[in-house]
Parts: sequence; structure tokens; C-alpha cells
Amino acid sequence: MAIGSAPEVAMSAAISATKLLINNEWVESSSGKTFPTINPATEEVICHVSEADADDVDRAVRAAREAFERGPWRKAPASERGRLLHRLADLIENHADELARLESLDNGKPYSVARAADVPKAAACYRYFAGWADKVQGRTIPIKGDYFCYTRLEPVGVVGQIIPWNFPLIMQAWKLAPALATGNTVVMKPAEQTPLTALRIGELIVEAGFPPGVVNLLPGYGPAAGAAIARHMDVDKIAFTGSTAVGHLIMEAAAQSNLKRVTLELGGKSPNIIFADADFDQAIEGAHMALFYNQGQSCSAGSRTFVEERAYDEFVERSAARARRRRVGDPFDPATEQGPQVDQEQYQKVMRYIGSGKSEGARLMCGGNRVGERGWFIEPTVFADVKDDMAIAREEIFGPVMSIIKFRDLEEVVDRANRTEYGLAAAVWTRDIGKAYSIANNVRAGTVWVNCYNAFDPAAPFGGFKQSGMGRELGEYGLQQYTESKTVTVKL
Ligand code: NAI
Ligand code: MG
Repeated sequence: MAIGSAPEVAMSAAISATKLLINNEWVESSSGKTFPTINPATEEVICHVSEADADDVDRAVRAAREAFERGPWRKAPASERGRLLHRLADLIENHADELARLESLDNGKPYSVARAADVPKAAACYRYFAGWADKVQGRTIPIKGDYFCYTRLEPVGVVGQIIPWNFPLIMQAWKLAPALATGNTVVMKPAEQTPLTALRIGELIVEAGFPPGVVNLLPGYGPAAGAAIARHMDVDKIAFTGSTAVGHLIMEAAAQSNLKRVTLELGGKSPNIIFADADFDQAIEGAHMALFYNQGQSCSAGSRTFVEERAYDEFVERSAARARRRRVGDPFDPATEQGPQVDQEQYQKVMRYIGSGKSEGARLMCGGNRVGERGWFIEPTVFADVKDDMAIAREEIFGPVMSIIKFRDLEEVVDRANRTEYGLAAAVWTRDIGKAYSIANNVRAGTVWVNCYNAFDPAAPFGGFKQSGMGRELGEYGLQQYTESKTVTVKL
């Protein structure tokens, strides 16, 4: 495989944003330290990026506080915030090819997917929340006595946001757009694996005309910059997407500092339930994409594929055949469906789970090996005869490993689907509306898809039950997580 060579050379010359964005200025970290960001398809360093630590977090929080309290941001009409968000979406659309190349280079996802999905979805998210900016309204409340009582929905203040590497542009949009639409100011830390598109968006934010200090971007590592944001006494809210383990740390830090508001979007082990009466062509392709999309690196991945007994053998055979056909390779080759895992750590984690599946006695139908010797590529892997208590059926693998599990009937599968600490998403494939309805009502998850999977829209709320998180992103629910309600009572 000749991977990533030509576009990479062309791209690295063009990478302009590699520092911290504080107060609309590009600055070095106070320590002067930098870290490498690596192309996971070649294991080569793309470039070095300034590494923020606690001092830089202080600087950025001061800028965000100043912008919140005294800058033009607070006084501007709400419609102006909407105009700026639309302007940012325009700029993203104008730079779509470049952003998709950069996303693919830094993350390893196929360029064709980044161009068709990640970039337009990020732009759509900014537009959706742009529309909300001047439609955030309080209420008048008929209280007892001679009073006029009303509520105002005010911004929470300085918001810390920590995002992961699996969908860098989209996760940045999900976090920034509602925060900015409602008038907050932001200190954001992109993931250390994938800082480049977040920083390029920073340039576009400045170009769009957002005032200084409204958006501050701090590339760096979790235990340093991330933890400093989480425990900062002058950060009013923190929004985090990533592992459940770090989600616990974020809540702890919030509890031990200033009780900042916390929203979390964490891991999942989502049941994807296929009944024998489903449209099988659709269900097989749907289950394949539910798991393998984005190299299997999705919080919502359908990673427990439950298949009804009567259709089990056919489903296993056909799913394995589909996985064997999946094209793994150069992210810049238009025929590629699957690129590398994001880094060595994730590669090793996935390979450990493949080993554990084998040793716990699951039946390996295909895959299981590394592809090539350079880059973190893994063969699309399918295990059949997976049992509920195996590690591959309980823990988040976050890689291209499908676990197919047999079930007998509806009641049993609901029970087993719910026997998990997670509750992010679920899906059901059936032609029977009664079964679909029953699954939708009884599976404890923040999102249920019927005869589809990963059907996201900026208007539809997304988030987790149980240890998959707290609060929701997207939609009106997502917006509400960025406002405080104030009750004003006037004696008449
Ligand atoms: P992680 O939770 O460590 O990283 C996510 C973000 O949190 C990154 O920006 C990271 O720098 C930051 N972070 C790490 N430690 C922190 C700390 N102590 N305080 C504040 N911020 C911190 O996840 P990681 O290590 O990248 O992946 C581990 C596993 O987590 C994955 O294999 C996957 O199972 C899960 N994960 C889930 C995601 C989701 O979309 N829900 C996204 C990324 C990872
Ligand atoms: Mg980590």
C-alpha cells in the first residue's frame, strides 16, 4: 500500500494553525513545549503543535471571562450571534476540500467520507444553532399576588469543552455551536491525536469576525490542559466527550472545585437487534455500517449485534462475507472504506480485544489481523457465537470488531440488551411495528433507531442513559444545557 504520500506533502506545506488561540491571537504555549501530531496511515509526524498546560488554561480563561463580562459579545443583539455562526458555516463550506483533507490526514478516516459527511455535518450543525440564536426565550409566569414574574435564559458564562479524536470537526461543532448561539464564551481543548482541523476552524472563527476571547483553543494533553479546565474555579460549565473513565474524573473535578455544570457524552455498548422478519439486505448492510463506520470508532457503534435464532446462521455468513469485502487502505484512495485506527494506543487496545474474543471462545469468522506493516490498519473482524459475559460483549472496543450474539424472543433480548452499564443508543430491524415499538420503549438508551442506524441530525437530541453520559447534545435539549434560567419577579 502506498499511503497518504502525495496529498500529505501538499498538505503539510499548507498547515498554518499550529499554536494556541487565545483572545483571537495565535500564541506559543507558556512552557514553549510542542507535541507531534501523527498521520495514523503512515506513522509519520505531520507537524508539531503548541502544547497547552495549566498556565495557558489560566490565560485562556481570563480572556474568555473578559470577553464574557466586558466584550462586545454580551451586548450584541442575539441575531448577530446567529449571523456570525452562519458566516462560519459559509467559510467551512468554502474550505470543504481542504478541511476534509486535513481531517483525513490527522485522523485516518477516508477522505471521501470526511468530504461527504464530516465537513457538511459540521457546517449543518453551526447553521442549525445559528437559527436558534435569536429564538431563545423565557416565559411569563402567572404567580399568586400582585407580581409580574418572568424568566430569562442567560448564558452560563465561561464554558470549558473537551473533545475527542473520532469526529474532530463534528465534535467541535456539537460543542461550539450551542455554546456560542446562547452567548457563552469558550475554552476548548481538542484531542491530542487530532488538533489540526480544530485549529484551522479557529482561523475561520477569527475570519468570520467573532470578537476576541469568545473562542479560545488549547491543543494539549488530557491530564495537563484537560484536567486544568475541569478543576478551574472560573469555568462555569464543562462539556466533555470521551471515555467513561475520564467522565468520572471530570465530575470529580467539578465537585471538588466550583460545582461547575457538567454535561458528559461517554462510551457505549449499543445493542443492534435484528429480527428474522427484517429486510435482510438492509439489515446486513445497516449492521455492517453500524459497527464498521469510522473504523469502528464511534460512541454509538452497534457493537452488540443481536440476531434472532431463526435467521442467525444466514446473518452470520452474509455479515462475514460483507466484512471480507470491506476495502481497507489509503485514506486518500476513493475506493477505500476503512482507514487506520487513530493511533498506536487504540490499535493495541483493539488487538487486545480480538485476542480476548479468541481466548474466550468466540468463533472468528474473518479478520483478526493487522493489515500491512506501516500505519494502524486492522482487518474488518467478525466474531460469531459471542456470549453476553465475554469482554468483547461488555466493554467498548472502539474498533472494527463485530460481535454477533444469538437471541430467541423479544422479552429476552430486551433484558439482555439492558444488562449493561451503558445506554447511549440502540437499534431494531423488523417489519413488525409492534416489535419495533416495544424495543423503542423498553431499551434504556438515549437514542433508538428503527430500520436505520446512525441517523443523526442537528435537530435531534443525542446523549446517554446510565454511564453513557449526562445531558444531551443537539436539538433544543442540547441548547438548554448552555443556558441558566433566571426568574425575575416585579412587585406591581
Ligand atoms: P479520553 O477520554 O482519554 O480522551 C478524550 C478527551 O479527553 C481528549 O481530549 C483527552 O485529551 C481528554 N482527557 C484525557 N484525560 C483527561 C483528564 N484527566 N482530564 C480532562 N481531560 C482529559 O479517551 P481516549 O484515551 O482517547 O480513548 C480511550 C477510549 O475512550 C476509547 O478507546 C473509547 O473506548 C473511548 N472514547 C469514547 C469516545 C466517545 O465518542 N464517546 C471518544 C473517544 C474515546
Ligand atoms: Mg485517554
